[in-house]
Amino acid sequence: MRQFNGRLTSLLISLTLGSSLFPAVTCFAAQGSAPVVAHSSDPWWKHAVFYEIYPRSFADSNGDGIGDLNGITAHLDYLHDLGVDAIWLTPCYPSPQIDFGYDISDYCNIDPVYGTLADFDKLIAEAKKRNIRIVMDFVINHTSDKHPWFVASRSSKTDPKRDWYVWRDGKEANKPPNNWQSIFGHSAWDLDSRTGQYYYHFFYPQQPDLNWRNPEVRKAMFDVTRFWMDRGVAGFRLDAVGCLFEDQNLQDNPIKPGTNAFGDPNMESKYNDRLEEVHDVLRELRQVIDSYAGDRVLIGETSTSNVKELSRMYGAKLDEIQLPMNFFFAYLNKLSAADFRRLISEWDKNPAQGWPLYFFSNHDQVRHYVRYGDKTNNDAIAKVTATLFLTLRGTPLMYYGEELGMENNDPKRVEDVYDPIGKIGWPKEKGRDGERTPMQWTAADFAGFSTIKPWLTAPASFASHNVTVEEAQPDSILNFYKKLIQLRRTEPLRSGSYEPINTSDQNVVAYLRKGDAGTVMVAINMSGQEQLFKPDLPGKKFSAHESRVLLRSGQPVKPDDNDDAVRLAPFSVHICSLP
Ligand code: GLC
Ligand code: CA
Repeated sequence: MRQFNGRLTSLLISLTLGSSLFPAVTCFAAQGSAPVVAHSSDPWWKHAVFYEIYPRSFADSNGDGIGDLNGITAHLDYLHDLGVDAIWLTPCYPSPQIDFGYDISDYCNIDPVYGTLADFDKLIAEAKKRNIRIVMDFVINHTSDKHPWFVASRSSKTDPKRDWYVWRDGKEANKPPNNWQSIFGHSAWDLDSRTGQYYYHFFYPQQPDLNWRNPEVRKAMFDVTRFWMDRGVAGFRLDAVGCLFEDQNLQDNPIKPGTNAFGDPNMESKYNDRLEEVHDVLRELRQVIDSYAGDRVLIGETSTSNVKELSRMYGAKLDEIQLPMNFFFAYLNKLSAADFRRLISEWDKNPAQGWPLYFFSNHDQVRHYVRYGDKTNNDAIAKVTATLFLTLRGTPLMYYGEELGMENNDPKRVEDVYDPIGKIGWPKEKGRDGERTPMQWTAADFAGFSTIKPWLTAPASFASHNVTVEEAQPDSILNFYKKLIQLRRTEPLRSGSYEPINTSDQNVVAYLRKGDAGTVMVAINMSGQEQLFKPDLPGKKFSAHESRVLLRSGQPVKPDDNDDAVRLAPFSVHICSLP
């Protein structure tokens, strides 16, 4: 999948960025906010702030070094104060944990390491009291090889579950059926000695692909969604949704020049990714979730940077995924005003006219604090990226700890790697442990995450970048996120239109959010130099003293003396409402 290539590229780029010295940055409190206008007809997910939690790493309630559901429940007040409306919980189902939960052996239970179904029900109930919804991760492409379905399937060629997975004869003795490679390295086929046939796995060999052409599989998987919706979940994040189908004729994929981090030839996944039939499944699944009240939502891991293709994930009649994830910001690893402007405009006007979702980081990406940081101004830059995705027209999706400026802590030695791709691909691919380290609650031992040494270690910066320290600092990244999230609840930031301005500026990304409640201007200085930004407003002149500052970061060196301009400190933002 491209996000893994993306994370490698991003790491390389962030390592080659130089550092430079700029004035310390402070942020100013909102000096007022625009009136709230309710759009009650909108589904909740259009205006919700989503927050991804990797349960293993959020909070450990029982002192075993691994995060759990009760740990999340214990911190719901924190999430509520931050302004979170919905949690995307990455998999916490029973699992052998080869891929840390993305290999599921029982879809209708909770892994004991994370708690029980009763703990889950409590999490839902406590979250509801705070108006926080829970969205489950739904891994639909594959199960664990320990799932009873696969255990039965591999037992004999005539087992009723045989056809629930993708089994084929080898091409010839000891040769897999074709050249398809696993995205996690090497052949996508494993020979199973019991029956002498190969099974197909797009990911690890312990993650055999389900056969979505089998109606029984569809029914079983749709029943899983009912099980969780009956328990009160607000929707699903569909894992790896593009690769549900494979070409029936098993045609070889085209080979591209060069090799990847695993030493395999580069390959275009032409015949085993994004096949047309995916859309049939998505439409059916959407009907299932729409049969429940409460505007349940589908978020999709749809990793393509092709706007047209991604846009199709909404469905021709907006009848598939409501919020396809675009990986545009996740793949863009430079603070480039021109690139951001282009990507936002493309997605804001996507051909399906679907509602945009924006995010920077997740559990498969190097954290964006590192990707965009220059090692000197990282905290200021964290406010720049926060402002960008929290003031656009669309739904923002955060990754736990980004509100603190959490950075990666990548393993230094292959012996320390947990994530198997880090072992297979070392040293080019170090795996994803680095972005999955414990949430940084305090400056105490183990970052206040656990009472014993946790499964992964927080980066040294946890001493300064943690909840307790940042709550007490008025200009911390955490307090900046809180102000931004509050502000985005107000109109026109909540649902107004997006209109870019000063579109040839190489340093400042600027736009208007316009609606019945007025106009807000957002100006973001992505450069390390102070900018005298002269807003070029359609049909009228900008007057600084007539505008009302809502939130800004950074302290310009020179005073703001020109009425037709805003002076922006290096890596700073300015949000104001216009008359
Ligand atoms: C998705 C998940 C990733 C996982 C893979 C296989 O890409 O985000 O963490 O390894 O699917 O399930
Ligand atoms: Ca625990």
